[in-house]
Amino acid sequence: MKKIGVLTSGGDAPGMNACVRSVVRCGISREMEVIGIRHGYRGLIEGEMIPLGPRSVAHILEHGGTFLESSRCEEMKTPEGLKKAVDSLTSAGIEGLVAIGGDGTFRGAAALSKEGGFKVVGVPGTIDNDVYGTDYTIGFDTAVNTAIDCIDKIRDTAESHGRLFFVEVMGRNRGFIALAVGIAGGADEILIPETATDLQALANSLKKHMAAGKRSSLVVVAEGDVPGGAQAIADKVGWLVGMDYRVVSLGHVQRGGSPSANDRILASELGAAAVSALAGRVNGCMVGKIGSDIVHTPLEESWTETKELDTRMLKMLQILAI
Ligand code: F6P
Repeated sequence: MKKIGVLTSGGDAPGMNACVRSVVRCGISREMEVIGIRHGYRGLIEGEMIPLGPRSVAHILEHGGTFLESSRCEEMKTPEGLKKAVDSLTSAGIEGLVAIGGDGTFRGAAALSKEGGFKVVGVPGTIDNDVYGTDYTIGFDTAVNTAIDCIDKIRDTAESHGRLFFVEVMGRNRGFIALAVGIAGGADEILIPETATDLQALANSLKKHMAAGKRSSLVVVAEGDVPGGAQAIADKVGWLVGMDYRVVSLGHVQRGGSPSANDRILASELGAAAVSALAGRVNGCMVGKIGSDIVHTPLEESWTETKELDTRMLKMLQILAI
């Protein structure tokens, strides 16, 4: 393979730049030409391409966001959009594509591979960590650390005022971020979509904490837990507990910032693995890391199979939060 493309699509994640850098430099070391596609699938459809050399990706490793920029592209879901994307790739002489993103990105990549007959390899880049076929996605570790920084600060003010805080973290459909942040941030309760939320039981448990002498309490809520998120839960549970309460939604702050060392390393490894997969004529797969192994998973499985979340952590939390 002589010429490959790389794009980032969907929600940006810290470490995407490190991954693009790795794809570019590994591609060049295999004497491939590497083309950066700007603005994800939207840019692909519109032919926004830039040649990338080793110097074009210098000093991007440490930056959050994605220098190629990203988009959520509805047109890519249509047969016309898909055709434009394939035409754009073939007329640029690109033979293989590395698509970095989450499940939306992989749906587009799978269509390019299956219906478009184009060679594509996916790399999991999303803070949500909700992708089957890899222990961690690029960006998750940084997002969790960012959220913990915030939680530590919220705890200071919660203790000063003796308040109950509901902190909403990202994770559209899954509770990976909430679980990690809740355990590492010393939360009293963690609410995630994978387990049923019983508001009366939650209120009783928070009251028990108060009776045990806690000055403040912190509940971490995954954004996808219930419709209305943390605010809806707080409005129902706050008065049941009888404690002054506040709600904080950490939102997009979790998507930004310099990637952690773990994310930079994972991104570098998976970028290299994607190039090596394309060079080996692998197609329609996502590269992931399970344990210390690089694993290829068919793109469809990355969203049709469910990645297990370790709910034993919730039991551990009950003990740690007494
Ligand atoms: O998938 C990553 C993610 O950050 C989710 O956690 C969140 O629900 C969503 O993207 C937000 O998307 P947008 O930036 O398009 O509002």
